[in-house]
Amino acid sequence: MTRDGAVTPAIGVALFGATGYTGREAARLIAGHPAFRLAAIFGGPERHGVPLATIHPSLRGVVDDLCEALPENGRLHPLVAGLSARGIRFALLATPEDSSMRLAPALLDAGLRVVDLSGAFRLAGADEFAAWYGCDHQAPGLFARSVYGLTEWRRDAIAAADLVANPGCYPTAALLAILPLRRAGLLDGAAPVTVHAVSGVSGAGRRMREDLMFCEVEGSVRPYGLSRHRHLVEIARIADLAPGDGLLFVPHLAPLERGLICSLSARLTAGAGPREVAGVYAAAYGETPFVRVAGDDRLPSTGDVRGTNACALGWTLAPGGRHIVVHAVIDNLIKGAAGQAIQNLNLMAGRPETEGLPR
Ligand SMILES: NC(=O)c1ccc[n+]([C@@H]2O[C@H](COP(=O)([O-])OP(=O)(O)OC[C@H]3O[C@@H](n4cnc5c(N)ncnc54)[C@H](OP(=O)(O)O)[C@@H]3O)[C@@H](O)[C@H]2O)c1
Repeated sequence: MTRDGAVTPAIGVALFGATGYTGREAARLIAGHPAFRLAAIFGGPERHGVPLATIHPSLRGVVDDLCEALPENGRLHPLVAGLSARGIRFALLATPEDSSMRLAPALLDAGLRVVDLSGAFRLAGADEFAAWYGCDHQAPGLFARSVYGLTEWRRDAIAAADLVANPGCYPTAALLAILPLRRAGLLDGAAPVTVHAVSGVSGAGRRMREDLMFCEVEGSVRPYGLSRHRHLVEIARIADLAPGDGLLFVPHLAPLERGLICSLSARLTAGAGPREVAGVYAAAYGETPFVRVAGDDRLPSTGDVRGTNACALGWTLAPGGRHIVVHAVIDNLIKGAAGQAIQNLNLMAGRPETEGLPR
């Protein structure tokens, strides 16, 4: 029981990376969830004993707990065995790849089920990871065990998984837009799919970087990461397109705190038109709680989904009717990260997919 007499939610979740941006959103969502309990919170090495709400003042009165620290000697097994002994069955990693690669094997060994927000387990294997992330993988054996967590397309596999690789923010929006057309065979394979994307600055996380300081980003939009962006290979892998010849990805940084839009253009197969396009989107998302599809009567904007776990899609055909442009907007910190992670935890714990999530 809590102090106000309410029943304490039963399912304990340990949150790592709680002091970051996606960690803040995850902490808020878990604290307000009817079935999950924020049972342990971890920040970076310097945060031991610090109240989470002093780092995220917006959590004052929502999460009053202190951060725990990871052991400095790097020996994680006693710590994760302790989590298991406290009845904690789930872990959410809102940490960078190097920390997730270290944490996930120890947590899985102790019997916890893990949702990882980083890119550590999203690709096909250690070679592809090394090529795109520029470092060796520390737990290559886990690729075979991880399930890519794009909820709307992998519900059964996610429900049964013990390691879910939560998708990146751009891939979430881009794939929700591409997959219905791609799987239905409506895209002409002779022409590349081009994804133009714009993201707010929180997409890069909270750590200090000179090129992300206010005076560097305010009042200006710039492209970045054109040929080497890690999300290019992630989108390409899941959509089964070749990076470069089959898929181009052109991300931009905009002076927004949060939110992103992916606008993808592609050529339709001969004979495909508005009726077929509307049909495949209705079939893919007509029954889903978080993906809203509109045609070109009201194209979506990032403000439509701010603070929610929704993805809003809108599409239009270019003059001549052979080329389609599809727009997908999400809140990068919610549907692009912490919200989709809770959506996946809901499935893994046998809870309703929508539980505890803002629509
Ligand atoms: N931001 C997004 O829109 C977004 C979307 C999808 C996925 N992601 C992914 O989600 C993860 C978190 O992203 P974020 O934007 O929340 O990053 P962030 O704001 O930079 O937060 C990173 C968190 O990880 C902790 N951390 C860093 N090094 C650590 C270490 N060696 N040991 C333990 N904890 C450590 C940090 O702790 P301290 O700050 O206390 O040191 C902080 O709590 C990343 O892998 C990112 O790629 C982010």
